[in-house]
Formats: sequence, C-alpha cells, structure tokens
Amino acid sequence: MKKIKTVFLKQFGKIRDLPSLPTIVTKVNEMLNDPNTTNESLSRVIEKDQAIVFKMLQLVNSVFFGLREKISTTNEAAIILGFDAIRNIVLSLSTLNLLDHLLKQKSNDHFKATSFWRHSIGVAVLSRYLAGEAMIGDPEKCFVCGLLHDMGKLLLAHYFPDDFIQVIEHARQEGLSYLDAEKTVLPACHPEIGYFIVKKWEMPTHLANTIFSHHNIQPGATCFNESIIVNTADGIINSYYADFLNNNTSPGNIKYGYFAPDARKLLNVWIETAPHWFPKVDILINDALAFFL
Ligand SMILES: [Fe+2]
Ligand SMILES: [Fe+2]
Repeated sequence: MKKIKTVFLKQFGKIRDLPSLPTIVTKVNEMLNDPNTTNESLSRVIEKDQAIVFKMLQLVNSVFFGLREKISTTNEAAIILGFDAIRNIVLSLSTLNLLDHLLKQKSNDHFKATSFWRHSIGVAVLSRYLAGEAMIGDPEKCFVCGLLHDMGKLLLAHYFPDDFIQVIEHARQEGLSYLDAEKTVLPACHPEIGYFIVKKWEMPTHLANTIFSHHNIQPGATCFNESIIVNTADGIINSYYADFLNNNTSPGNIKYGYFAPDARKLLNVWIETAPHWFPKVDILINDALAFFL
C-alpha cells in the first residue's frame, strides 16, 4: 500500500546525513534581501570562499556569458552582472557541488549520474537561452530552476533507492514515463520532494515554486514564466538526450507528450522549430558540461 504523502515527505526531513547548504549561500541570500547591501559588502562575503570565487570568475569569463571585457574581481562581477546574477551563480555552483558529492558517495546501478547531469545542465542552459530569446522570465533565474528542477529524483535515488528502483521497474514493465510511474508507485513525486528540500534549505521561493510546478503549471502562479520555460526546455532536452528509461534512439524527434498545455500555447514556435536552432544550443550545453562537471 502506498504510504501517506505527508509521512513520505517527512522521511526526507529526517534524513540524518542530508548535507546542508554552505553558509555562503544562506548569507548571500540574506544580503540580497537587505536594501543596505552594497557591491563591496556582498563581494567581501563571497570572497571568504575562494573556491567559489575562482569558479565564478571562470564562469563569467567563459563563452557562456559572452562578455567583451574580462572580469577579474567579485566586485566587478557584481557591478556588471548585478546582484541577482551573482546570487544565481553562487547558488548553482554550491548546489551542484553538493549534489554531485552526494552522487559520488554511493553508486546506484539504476541512477546514472552522467545522464542526470547531462539532462539537468541541458535543461538549465536551454532554459536560460529560451528565456532570453522568447523574453519570458529572467534568464539567470531560469538557469538555476532548470539546473535543479529534477533534484527530487536524485534525492530519492540516493536516500530511498528501493523506492527509486520500484519506480524504474514499474515504468519499464508498464511502458510508462518516469513521472507516470512515480504517480502510481509513490505517494509524492519528484517535484514535491525537490520542493520540500529546497524549502528546508531556505532557498529562494521562486526556485521552490518552479521545481514544484515544472510538470503541472497552475495559471496565475507566481512562478508561471519560469515554469513554462523549464517545462519547455525539459521536453526539448528529453526529445534529444537519453535518460534513465529512454535510450532516445531518434534524437530530435520532438516528443509532444512532455509539454504542458501552457508551454504548447506560449512557446509552440520554439518547440516546432527546435530542429533548426537546437544544434547551436547543444554546443553551449557541451561547453557548460565541460565547465560544471
Ligand atoms: Fe521533472
Ligand atoms: Fe527533467
């Protein structure tokens, strides 16, 4: 019998070795909600974590940001890119590090780390691209939402491998998508698990809400724009790359079943024309993969 949803989600709250987010992320979040924060005070806090500074400067100077001038200090990065972009970079780099560390601790034959990161980074880069091109949502926010949208899957596979295997096996036996199998087997699905942990980590609300609604978008939701962008990027990436259940032998064959009705309505032109523009984004994704992993 399926467990009750609240009991199931509470298990995630009780995980003893659930890593905590580095204090720098909480501090940067707090500072960005404080109107007295200046470029200098923000830079001073970030500079306490030299590993993040190093990665951040590498990232902002990469082709990914396409800046003409080289940036050499955190202060310059904050002036040129703005507070929000800095927050999103710190958040992305720290969480990715933490989740990747988690993945490397225990191997699970059913959960393939490489395909998980290829999917997540693909959705992140594509979300950023679509938000910028379609002018829907903030590109940097969409990047983080895309990067972390499926973290519920990773947490389930790592902490509750038996439940994860049950989902995968059920999907294989019945020919279902991962999400549809989850709905049958588990009391709560990966968007709810991701939301629960992101809330626990006190990460920004728009991130939690977008993770929650990336497969089920409520009209008028505060994170509506980010959600349709991530949903569209997810559908396109699923049409090109392999995942746990799908070897994707015909990449580029758009799988319309993945898209939410609102994504089809508002971003259909992007979905329909993906075969023309996706190869360009694929190059960006491969650059980002080389950088992040
Ligand atoms: Fe998902
Ligand atoms: Fe996904």
